[in-house]
Amino acid sequence: MDFDDIINHLGEERSKYFNAVAPPIIQSSNFAFDSLNELRHKLTDEANHYIYTRGNNPTVEILRKKVAALEGAEDALVFGSGIAAIAAAILSNVKAGDHIVAVEKPYGWTNALFSKFLPRFGVTTTFVDAREVDNVAKAIQPNTSLIYLESPNSLTFELQDLEACAILAKQHGIVTAIDNSYASPFYQQPLKWGIDIVIHSATKYINGHSDALGGVVCGSKALINRMFSNEYMILGAVMSPHDAALMIRGLRTLELRMRRTQESTEKIVAFLETHPKVKQVLYPFSPTFAQYELAKKQMTGAGGLFSVHLDLERVEQADAFFARLEKFAMAVSWGGHESLVMPSAVFYNITGRANSTIPFTLFRFYIGLENPDWLIADLKQALDSI
Ligand SMILES: Cc1ncc(COP(=O)(O)O)c(C=O)c1O
Repeated sequence: MDFDDIINHLGEERSKYFNAVAPPIIQSSNFAFDSLNELRHKLTDEANHYIYTRGNNPTVEILRKKVAALEGAEDALVFGSGIAAIAAAILSNVKAGDHIVAVEKPYGWTNALFSKFLPRFGVTTTFVDAREVDNVAKAIQPNTSLIYLESPNSLTFELQDLEACAILAKQHGIVTAIDNSYASPFYQQPLKWGIDIVIHSATKYINGHSDALGGVVCGSKALINRMFSNEYMILGAVMSPHDAALMIRGLRTLELRMRRTQESTEKIVAFLETHPKVKQVLYPFSPTFAQYELAKKQMTGAGGLFSVHLDLERVEQADAFFARLEKFAMAVSWGGHESLVMPSAVFYNITGRANSTIPFTLFRFYIGLENPDWLIADLKQALDSI
């Protein structure tokens, strides 16, 4: 099915709902039945019938169908946040005594899940520099049940070769999962390269308007059915129908937003790469990026998130640079309409003491939907002041 057809039509059965062109929000926790037999029958496949909204809800199901199709997956599940989706996908593929090989710098709470939470249940993780598939191969143990990827990651943007990782995993009978939030389903579809499970923080590009949290997990019917009957129903971290409606609306413009943010970002990155106060730009779709060729192979674009190292000697200079920026809000997260900056200096006190290994010279930017020339002018005056 075409991308356009998926975001505009798939899953929306208008004739059921007064031919309303926007799908209704079915704000009901449960659904009634006319006969014992009907309920008996529906209980045999709760994931695909409407019984109780923690299981399946008509509005949430529209989003579920659309995201599964965008990723080329047989099925998907929609969660109340990205980390709920990540936790469910990981828990669904490990048991006590198992081992995971994971990328060395995953999203912070994913890292906490591997480092602090899973060891309580006898699951261990080896973190590797997965830019080289050999490092992944060397870390595999007889009890490895999952390889966890995040390509690119969302701070320094290291990539993994998805095809090579999938081939390696299949040779060992290991499940592969990837956090695909950075690229969105518009710019990267990991299942095509042989990855088993694709996860998104839908809070980012899928919603795209910074007004709702969400997560999705996409994969085969077998993997999703198993997850539904266990982590999905038991942990219960589901999305509300209201938030699903916001996400469906957000998805309508996914392509437009991704193209706009990428175009603006490329312009801004090109400006930054020529500024004398910028030491390095980290952006997978810049020809200066170390893994540019791999990015071009497995992604069709890179969106609006990148980092720069500025030529700074003291932490106070980072504070001063940020204070000059007028058009960028300082905030975590990304993927919405608004441009953002996240200075690593936030992890340093004013005398320069660090509680992080990230240098204070690093600033992560997210480019929203504003006029890029306007953002460049703002960056220029702030950089010139250093
Ligand atoms: C790369 C990445 N994955 C996952 C998450 C978690 O998503 P959520 O905040 O929706 O739980 C985030 C959130 O910032 C993220 O940046």
